[in-house]
Amino acid sequence: MCGIVGIVGRAPVAPLIVDALKRLEYRGYDSAGVATIDHGRLGRRRAEGKLVNLEKRLGEEPLDGTIGIGHTRWATHGVPNETNAHPHFSNDVAIVHNGIIENFAELRSSLIADGYEFASQTDTEVVAHLVSRELAKGLGPVEAAHNALKQLEGAFALAIMFRGDEDMIIGARNGPPLAVGHGEGEMYLGSDAIALAPFTNAITYLEDGDWAVVRRGGMEIFDIEGKPVDRKRQQSIGSSYLVDKGNYRHFMEKEIYEQPEVVSHTLAHYLDFANGVAKDFETPFDFGKIDRLAISACGTAYLAGLVGKYWFERHARLPVDIDIASEFRYREMPLSKQSGALFISQSGETADTLASLRYCRQEGLPIGAIVNVRESTIARESDGIFPTLAGPEIGVASTKAFTCQLSVLASLAVKAAAARGEVDAEGEKLLVRQLSEAPKLANQTLKLAGQIEKLARDLSHYKHVLYLGRDTNYPLAMEGALKLKEISYIHAEGYAAGELKHGPIALIDEQMPVIVIAPHDRIFEKTVSNMQEVAARGGKIILITDAKGAKHSTIDTLDTIIVPDVPEIISPIVYSLPIQMLAYYTAVFMGTDVDQPRNLAKSVTVE
Ligand code: F6R
Repeated sequence: MCGIVGIVGRAPVAPLIVDALKRLEYRGYDSAGVATIDHGRLGRRRAEGKLVNLEKRLGEEPLDGTIGIGHTRWATHGVPNETNAHPHFSNDVAIVHNGIIENFAELRSSLIADGYEFASQTDTEVVAHLVSRELAKGLGPVEAAHNALKQLEGAFALAIMFRGDEDMIIGARNGPPLAVGHGEGEMYLGSDAIALAPFTNAITYLEDGDWAVVRRGGMEIFDIEGKPVDRKRQQSIGSSYLVDKGNYRHFMEKEIYEQPEVVSHTLAHYLDFANGVAKDFETPFDFGKIDRLAISACGTAYLAGLVGKYWFERHARLPVDIDIASEFRYREMPLSKQSGALFISQSGETADTLASLRYCRQEGLPIGAIVNVRESTIARESDGIFPTLAGPEIGVASTKAFTCQLSVLASLAVKAAAARGEVDAEGEKLLVRQLSEAPKLANQTLKLAGQIEKLARDLSHYKHVLYLGRDTNYPLAMEGALKLKEISYIHAEGYAAGELKHGPIALIDEQMPVIVIAPHDRIFEKTVSNMQEVAARGGKIILITDAKGAKHSTIDTLDTIIVPDVPEIISPIVYSLPIQMLAYYTAVFMGTDVDQPRNLAKSVTVE
């Protein structure tokens, strides 16, 4: 994670770097820093915590200089304080880094043995000293950086600047993304194109192993052997506008409320509502010909994939293997050559998901990706992408990206069902019509906000919460628990309702509210039995259901949230909203930092 920026410009760069860092704050907000060189002086300002602290610092003590680098941090090595904040210096070298240097311990020992003193606990400082040691051997900056890069193991994106050369930043990529931006007499480096969007939309993406020498007049890219390589320049579509919250208190609230609209856009991208068919869009594999689908993703995106498994298997009779990407990549799963591989990622940069993709690439599988950021590494390395049309998601806890991922998966399941002859024209039409109702029903569900807000006040007094669901509501139970714990810091777990009696029931008492997600479907009665088991042990139930479910549950609940009646296929999309709202309002009552919860980051580019 972490976001990095570098500018070789014509005017003072510190304010521009801060502007770019604002667009990268989603990558981490433990600390931030800027360094510039001004007439031979290397200066830096750093601050613990969010970027506003750095801005304040720069307001008090501005930095001049037309060349500079900047960083927003998600801590890996060393606590998030000012000393560990980037940029890190070693003599004439200044450096910012995103990623992890895996061999940092041995490099650090060898540098200490050579007399280098470490000011921080970070792995990054090793790289600064390493370049410095190469300079001390008499090499020029470019050769010194290249020699240092050859000694690094791990995943990194770096920007390196040298006092003594005010016209050069060296960028390097091995894993996390790095883009070079081309301006008029100025050049830029950034973790993504959006960071650079106010300055330029002419972008060159570095590939793994690339390093670039960036000067005002242009740039050259080399591979790790030092041979020049050609990387094409592209027009980025990144928006230069910082998305704002409008009248909402938090981005998360705004993003929850945007869902009817973005779900509608996403569904309309894949489905022809007028003719009741899945559109004829390009796919990286033929759903009619593959015999299995391997899905992998992380966190919320993984839970979307889990819902997708139910849909693909039920509607298209297509077997799905679904894995958490950090497990998939190491478990050496045998993959049939007739399989398709599908990766789901909002950011398109998640390191474990990317590594799983590369594993499947090596195995020769055709690769598709459901991504929100179309210029991301995962998007670029896939054979075909299925975009979610959620727009930028700023809140760290995923909401609209999740329901848009569900919308894509449901649409793909319909397409697969048709391609495999598992639905006839009438069946396809019915599914498409049902999906077309999702935005309207999601909108009606948002009207439950008042009731959910009241309930959240009660929930905020508990320390533990259990979520239960069956079928597609099982992944939703896990998603509800994930949302609650990540933004309110209340411990929560999601279980398959049928698993309750195999262990978690031991936890049930009056201090453990149990949130049951159970529309009145064909297995509703089974879930009612599980609720009886909870009630018999003094557990407090919060039931999320529809009118029929409320009528038939016959169990005392702490509260019952009645969602509009929905067709089964869109139930996960619509039922996502009350669980998101419950987590959101609970966090608001707890007074946590909803959009930027502690310890998290929006784009997880470390393994
Ligand atoms: C939770 C959340 C995370 C992400 C996960 C994967 O609210 O947002 O669990 O879903 O880090 O991120 P992407 O989708 O960017 O690969």
